[in-house]
This record gives sequence, C-alpha cells and structure tokens, in this order.
Amino acid sequence: MAKRDLISVLDMKDEWPDLVDLAIKIKKERGNHNAPLKGKTLIMIFEKPSTRTRISFDVAITELGGHALYIDGSNVHMGHGETVEDTAKVMSRFAHGIMYRAYDYKVMDRIGEVATVPVISGLDNLEHPCQALADMVTIKEKKGSFRGKKLVYLGDGNNVCNSLLYSSAVMGLDMIACCPATRMPNAEIMLGAARIADANGCKISASHDPMEACKDADILYTDTWISMGDDTPVDKAIKLFSMYQINSELLSIAKKDCIVMHCLPAHRDQEITAEVMDGPQSVVFDQAENRLHAQKAVLYTLLK
Ligand code: CP
Ligand code: NVA
Repeated sequence: MAKRDLISVLDMKDEWPDLVDLAIKIKKERGNHNAPLKGKTLIMIFEKPSTRTRISFDVAITELGGHALYIDGSNVHMGHGETVEDTAKVMSRFAHGIMYRAYDYKVMDRIGEVATVPVISGLDNLEHPCQALADMVTIKEKKGSFRGKKLVYLGDGNNVCNSLLYSSAVMGLDMIACCPATRMPNAEIMLGAARIADANGCKISASHDPMEACKDADILYTDTWISMGDDTPVDKAIKLFSMYQINSELLSIAKKDCIVMHCLPAHRDQEITAEVMDGPQSVVFDQAENRLHAQKAVLYTLLK
C-alpha cells in the first residue's frame, strides 16, 4: 500500500472525524496500549523551537511501543550540505515515519514527495494539522458535537487558523476568522474550506469586527500575534491586533458556556488576558494534553 502523509488537514480529511473518535478512545485506554508500534522509529526534525509538539510526539510513540529520534534541523546536512531530497531518501531507509517542523511549506511538500515513509507536519508556515486535530478532540469532549456550534478565531490569520478552517469545514462546525484586513488567513485555504463547508452544511466566513463576530459564540480561539519566523515588531503587532484580544469584555458577548482555546505558547495580556487564560472557561491545558492523544491516533493510522 502506498505511504500516506499528514502535511495538510486535506490529506486526511475523509478520516478526520474517525481520527477524532480514535483519539478519544485512545485517551480512555491510556496505560493499557499493547505496543501496536513496537519496533517503529519516528524521526522528528525541528527547524523551529517546540515544547508541546516535540514532547507529545515523543511520548506518543513511546507509549505505543515505538521510539522517537529528535533532530535539530540546523545540525544535519539537510538543505545545507546536501539536498533536502537526498536527506529525505536516507531518512526513509532508517525510520518508519518522519515528523517535520519547517519554516517553508514548499520544503515540507518536497520531503513528502520524496520520502518513502509517512511525513507528518509538526507545523509549517501554512498549516498546523496536528494542532487542529487535537482542537477538534477538545471541542468534541467539551461540546459533545460540532453541528450548529460557532467557533470564532481572533487575531492573526496564520498556520493555526488555516488548519482550523479546514478542520471546522470537515467536522461541520461554523467558523469565523476574525482578523485585521492585512492579516487574513491564506485566501486559497479560506476558499477551499468554504467550499467544503458548503457541501457539508456548515459555514466558513470572515470578519474584522470582534464585537459582532463573537456574539453567541460557543468557542473563542486565539494564537500568538507574531508567529515563529515573522519579523513584525512587537509594538506594531500590539497596535494592529489589540482590538482582537480575548478578554472578559469580549467573552461576555459570547454564550455563557463558551470555551476559550489557545494552541500555546501564549503571551498573557497580548492576544489573551491572564484573567481569561487562567479563568474557568479556558480549556487550554486540556487542549495541550489532547495533542498527545490525537497524535497517537495519527501515528497508529499511518505507521501501523
Ligand atoms: N502548539 C504547539 O505546537 O506548541 P509548540 O510550539 O510548543 O510545539
Ligand atoms: N502560529 C504559531 C504557532 C505556534 C505553535 C507559530 O507558527 O509560531
């Protein structure tokens, strides 16, 4: 059978609901896995820093009976001393899967094309599919279902927002990307997600007005205003994004049982106030934990 990748949510969109359910099942069975990935090695290459992605992938494959190998992207020849393609071919001879955190989605895609083992994105400048899968797990746990629920993403229309757009469309969740006009999500992804949503009976839309967008929301979601690799100065970002901050005033417009999400790392009192982040409606640490369970579902599906 041909190997499969998870570089974009679209790569596994048909299985996305099943992966969410599998992650929830795997979470319940934690501590009782019978080593389904025994003898499997995952190479993890990081071109950017990471806490959650690095640790949760390592723990995930370990608990499934396999082994992870951490590679600092600046300390291997890939793209410096040899071509990316040559490195990808060599890695495919050693390991059963490659997890890659990249600056450039084009390099990610190239590795996906050339590697003969599954390539899983741990984030690039276009998407963060594993984050979005864990977020869908969290929403299902907290809200029970997706239909008729409204997610408002506030702030920078970045990689996390892009993968959330696809995921929401696939799961039947209504999503509004509420971002400044100059920092909207990727136009092609927005269009693609809207088409999927149309066919799936839900709605993807855009707004520049947080007070309007957050009315009756079930989920408010934000991420850093300055992603890794973005050289926007902090003072400029604060000026541009401050009206999109998740704070108690904005939260009061949403439904009473609205949950607040953030993929982390967070900058307290920039994109989210400390009060809300540490408050009763925040689910950010459940969300972080669910990276582990969601990625087990992905690793099991792609590497077994
Ligand atoms: N959310 C997330 O991917 O976090 P890390 O950058 O710590 O991996
Ligand atoms: N948008 C952020 C996500 C970090 C997990 C970034 O790319 O830096």
